[in-house]
Amino acid sequence: MNYDPTLEFARRLDEADALRAFRGRYALPRDAEGEPLVYLCGHSLGLMPLAARGLVLEELDDWAQLAVFGHEHARRPWIPYHENLRDGLASLTGARATEVVAMSSLTVNLHLLLAAFYRPSGARRRIVIEAGAFSSDRHAVASQIAWRGLDPEEALVELSPAAGADTIAEESIEAYLEEQGDKVALLLWPGVQYRTGQAFDLGRIVRAAHRAGCVAGLDLAHSIGNMPLALHDIDADFAVWCSYKYLNGGPGAIGGCFIHERHDPPHLAGWWGHEAATRFHMGPEFQAAAGAAGWQISNPPILSAAPLIASLALFEQTGLHRLRQKSVALTGYLEYLIDRLAPDLQLITPRAPDSRGCQLSVRVNGPPGRGQRVFDTLTARGVIGDWRQPDTIRLAPTPLYNTFADVFRGAEALGRALREQR
Ligand SMILES: Cc1ncc(COP(=O)(O)O)c(C=O)c1O
Repeated sequence: MNYDPTLEFARRLDEADALRAFRGRYALPRDAEGEPLVYLCGHSLGLMPLAARGLVLEELDDWAQLAVFGHEHARRPWIPYHENLRDGLASLTGARATEVVAMSSLTVNLHLLLAAFYRPSGARRRIVIEAGAFSSDRHAVASQIAWRGLDPEEALVELSPAAGADTIAEESIEAYLEEQGDKVALLLWPGVQYRTGQAFDLGRIVRAAHRAGCVAGLDLAHSIGNMPLALHDIDADFAVWCSYKYLNGGPGAIGGCFIHERHDPPHLAGWWGHEAATRFHMGPEFQAAAGAAGWQISNPPILSAAPLIASLALFEQTGLHRLRQKSVALTGYLEYLIDRLAPDLQLITPRAPDSRGCQLSVRVNGPPGRGQRVFDTLTARGVIGDWRQPDTIRLAPTPLYNTFADVFRGAEALGRALREQR
């Protein structure tokens, strides 16, 4: 696309945008004067679908009026509540409906899946993750290794980018697995890396793991609702995600997981994973429900699941394919503007659209403290991204509710902040 660095041009792109009406379906945060902020922070916490309020209120009303009878007689009965989310999640992840379940939260789900899929034996004991992984993923993996009586110093492998690079080439993951794969029990890889915004060819990574005889698990926190996914077809063994970023499910929203249908390993159990027909017989033996539903532990948190129903309905209306097309154009426009309006920034995120999602991560070079000052100035001007120590600003234009004009205003404010904060 031929871009132009003016607000008029951005507005013309917005007028031509077939998805522009969807912005009106979200609550836009505002500044003290009531003006909408330029919200480029969907990679951290997505905006509230307006319909979420009604759905939560319906659950509160049903609770008020029906109390315990709501389990069976609420408008959306609470016992099978997770089923309201199943098809939408399957469609976003490219999974069969029986392979996904909304439950619990990301790190807890990661622990549950590692408990089942991490089977160190003999020399094959390692878990491989990316260097600089999200702290919670690293804590989960290291503690799982230690919990099996093994030493994380030895069994936790963190693959780094080549010297001088910020991002990791798929070739180097393949090369590691070819050389050392017989010592690796499990590879846990992100769909999109949280700090750099790099998106990976997940099919290629899963194939490399399987060639080496390793389990391939995925963390999709920054991918779901952001990138097209095909978990069933790429043959991923398992995946976990949260729903408060691009899924717009709300703070602390219910998480989710995928378990490929060819797997049925022994796993930790709770009553909600029991086959539904006999769950309330309360017998001592556990009879797992079929598929991913059998991995549930506890009854679902209705109030943190209700907003996600509203959100998934919007994804269904837009379709991920159209969203992705707009996302590539929005993020491409941000990249173009940063190159022109803020040229002393260093783009960490790959430039190839296939190797990134919505997010761009930029490094602010200069004297100590400059990056934080630039970021604070940006925030004071109503442009909301986030800051990652020591030097990185993350900005994510999100196709459901951001406009090209948002992107222009964000980049323009960034350029101004950089000129002011030397
Ligand atoms: C990649 C990644 N892993 C783990 C987490 C932690 O998620 P939770 O607090 O829902 O377990 C996050 C949260 O932002 C994340 O981005």
